[in-house]
Amino acid sequence: TFSSAEDASEYLANYIISKVNNFQPTPSKPFVLGLPTGSSPEGVYARLIKANKAGKVTFKNVVTFNMDEYLGLKPTDKQSYHYFMYDKFFNHVDIPRENINILNGLATDIDKECANYEAKIKKYGRIHLFMGGLGPEGHLAFNEAGSSRDSITRRVSLVPSTIKANCRFFENDESKVPRYALSVGISTILDNSDEVALIVLGEAKAAALEKTIHGKKNDAQFPSSYLQDHPNALIVCDNAAAGL
Ligand code: GLP
Repeated sequence: TFSSAEDASEYLANYIISKVNNFQPTPSKPFVLGLPTGSSPEGVYARLIKANKAGKVTFKNVVTFNMDEYLGLKPTDKQSYHYFMYDKFFNHVDIPRENINILNGLATDIDKECANYEAKIKKYGRIHLFMGGLGPEGHLAFNEAGSSRDSITRRVSLVPSTIKANCRFFENDESKVPRYALSVGISTILDNSDEVALIVLGEAKAAALEKTIHGKKNDAQFPSSYLQDHPNALIVCDNAAAGL
């Protein structure tokens, strides 16, 4: 817990940098990093870019897997998670383009897209570090209430509270928010990651954070509670989010 969002972001960025720098990659064994979108990780991305430009870390031997993408949005659509990731991070660091993996929201064969994504993650063996955010209703990626422990990459329907929370990116118009997304599952995150690190900021997340840590374990109605059983989960938050 940190007194400000800036300090929390600084800590997690430095944490990621040290993990990447301490890893001995080979061409067949890169550092595998899971990544989220949302406003919470933006400060972490900004600091990773700064460190990369200053030569303190390189992403040349890092492979990334993003958590989720809206269904039906083009990568060039400003609200797509593709656009977000390139705009906020990938365009500004030295990661090879072929190392970036993001679900394709325009895939015509959705089942195949999801199966291939899940298989590609498994092909790498382990995600060394999966950074995530926390939805106000306890979602991880787009694993909404009802997501089972064994869920894998799939198409999901967004619940009304998520549509409401995310409409701020769609001119505050709920009707413009896609109703479906592609998302890695709870099993994809928990069973394939050596470590999961959530960045949780702001008072609006306090109730969700309290429930994630102290609420009922393995509660499908509150998917972040599954993290209680992960052997290596780190939560980086500010005082506002830790308020409850
Ligand atoms: C979206 C994403 C989640 C993210 C959540 C919280 O719904 N699919 O992966 O964690 O938003 O976003 P924010 O950090 O903006 O509150």
